[in-house]
Amino acid sequence: MASDLNVMLVASEYEGLVKTGGLADVARALPAALRSAGTHTKVLMPYYRALFKHQPEVLISSLDVALNPRDHYGCAVRHYNDNGVEIYLLEHHQFYDREGIYDDGRWPFEDNPLRFGLLSKAAFALCKALNFVPDILHAHDWQTALVPYYLSKQAPGDSFFSHTRSVFNVHNGAYQGKCHARWLGALGIDPSDFIPEHFEDYGEINLLKGAVVFADHIVAVSPGYRDELMQESTSHGLWQTFQAHAHKVSGILNGCDYGLWNPEHDELIAARFSAKDLAGKQQCKAVLQTQTQLMVNPERPLFGLVSRLTDQKGLHYLIPALHEFLGNKAQVVILGSGDAHFSSLLRHLAASHPGQVHFTEGYSEALAHQIEAGSDFFMMPSLFEPCGLNQIYSMRYGTLPIVRSTGGLRDTVVPLAVDNHNADVATGLSFDAPSIEATSMALAHAFELYTQHPKVFKQVQQNAMAQRFEWEPAAAAYIETYRTLLA
Ligand code: ADP
Ligand code: GLC
Repeated sequence: MASDLNVMLVASEYEGLVKTGGLADVARALPAALRSAGTHTKVLMPYYRALFKHQPEVLISSLDVALNPRDHYGCAVRHYNDNGVEIYLLEHHQFYDREGIYDDGRWPFEDNPLRFGLLSKAAFALCKALNFVPDILHAHDWQTALVPYYLSKQAPGDSFFSHTRSVFNVHNGAYQGKCHARWLGALGIDPSDFIPEHFEDYGEINLLKGAVVFADHIVAVSPGYRDELMQESTSHGLWQTFQAHAHKVSGILNGCDYGLWNPEHDELIAARFSAKDLAGKQQCKAVLQTQTQLMVNPERPLFGLVSRLTDQKGLHYLIPALHEFLGNKAQVVILGSGDAHFSSLLRHLAASHPGQVHFTEGYSEALAHQIEAGSDFFMMPSLFEPCGLNQIYSMRYGTLPIVRSTGGLRDTVVPLAVDNHNADVATGLSFDAPSIEATSMALAHAFELYTQHPKVFKQVQQNAMAQRFEWEPAAAAYIETYRTLLA
C-alpha cells in the first residue's frame, strides 16, 4: 500500500470533462490507478466554460493566487468527485470562460502563458487551502510546466512544501509553450533564470525546457520516447537539455483504461464481442459501413483512423498513399479534427473515392469507439508518437494497428514480418520510413493479409486481442519513482 503518499496532479484536460487527446485519458486513468494503489491523489484543472454544465459545487469561494510579487488573481475552486478521485476546478472567468481551451479554433490564445501559469501556481495555494501537504506535485506537458519551477522557488522559510518533490510528464515534447520574453515578469520567472541553461530558447521563453531543468524527475510516456528525447533528430529541438538531465529522465508506458475500452462491455458500439466470439465485430463492421455510406460487405477490408489532424500524425504521407491504395477494393473511415489543411485534403480524398472513403470532420466519442470496433485495421502512421493510445485500443478490439515504428508505437506493437512467418507472435503491422512508399507497402500488406491469408489475419487478431496494457503496473512504476525521490 502507498497510503502515506499525497499526490497533487495538475493537468489541463481530463477525460469525461474536457479532452483534445490522450493527455486527457491519462489525466483521468493515472490518478484512478494511483488511488487504487492506495495513494491520496487529487487533481487540479481549470474550470473551463465547457464544464459549466456540470454545475460542480463551489468548495473555496476565494483563493488568492500570486503569480508574481505584484499580481494577485482572485479565484474560486469548485469540486467534483469522479469515482473517488477528488477533482478541483480552478475558476477564473477572465481566463477560462471562453470558447475553446487552448485556441479560438484558429489561433492559440494570446494569454495562454498567463492562463496556464495561473493553473500551475494555483496548485500551491490550493494545497495550502486544503491543508494537503503533497509529497509529489505531478505536472503534465507545457501547460503545467511551471509547477516544478514554482516549487523550486518556494520561500526557503516556508516548511509546507519543504518535502515536496516534482514529477513532470512529457506526453508531447513538440508542444513547448514557447512565448515572448515579455511574459517573464507576469509569470514570476526570475530574470536570472532567463538563460539558455534554464528557460531561454533563441530569445524566447520555453516553458517545457524550464520543466526539464527544474523538475526533480521527468517521465516520458514510453521507454522508446524517452530514448528519442535524447536524440537530436527526435527530441523536438531539446536534446541538449534532455541529455544534460538524462539521469532524472525515465520512460513509463501508459496503460489503457479497459473500463472504457473493452468490446465485451462497450455500450457505444452496435454489438458486444470477444476474442472467442467475434460475431458482434462483424455486426459492428456492417453497422459502421451503413452509417458511413460504404458498401456493406464483410469481404472488403475496412481501414479506420481516429486522430487529431496535425503534422505529428503522418497524414502528409498517409493521404497520398491512400489515393494510390484505393485503386483496390479497400474501404476507409476517418474521424478527425484539427488543421484545416488536413481536413481539406481528407474531404478531397473522400470526394475522389465516393462509397469507398468516409470522412467525418469533428470530435465524437461514440464514433471513435465504433471505428475501433468496426474496422479490420487501424491506421496510425505517426511521424512521432510519444505513446499512442489508439493502437492499444484497437488491439483490444481485434483491429490490427498499422503503425510507423516510432516511440510508443514501436514499444506496443509486434510487427508482422513481410513474409508473415511470425504470425504466432505478431500483433499488428509496421513500417519504418515516414514516406508515401513505405506507407503504401504496409497498406498493401494489410490488404493482402485480409483478402489472401484469412487464417494468418485471424491468428494476429487473436494475438492482438490477448494483449493487455494495464494501468496497474504503470501506477506501480510511478509510485516507485515517487518513493525514490522522497527517500
Ligand atoms: P494524441 O494524444 O496524440 O492525440 P493518443 O492516441 O494518445 O494520441 O490519444 C488520442 C485520444 O483522443 C484517443 O482516446 C482518441 O480516441 C481520441 N481522439 C482523437 N481524435 C478524436 C476525435 N476526432 N473524436 C473522438 N476521439 C478522438
Ligand atoms: C500525447 C501523445 C500521445 C500520448 C498521449 C498520452 O498526446 O501525442 O502519443 O499517448 O499524449 O500520454
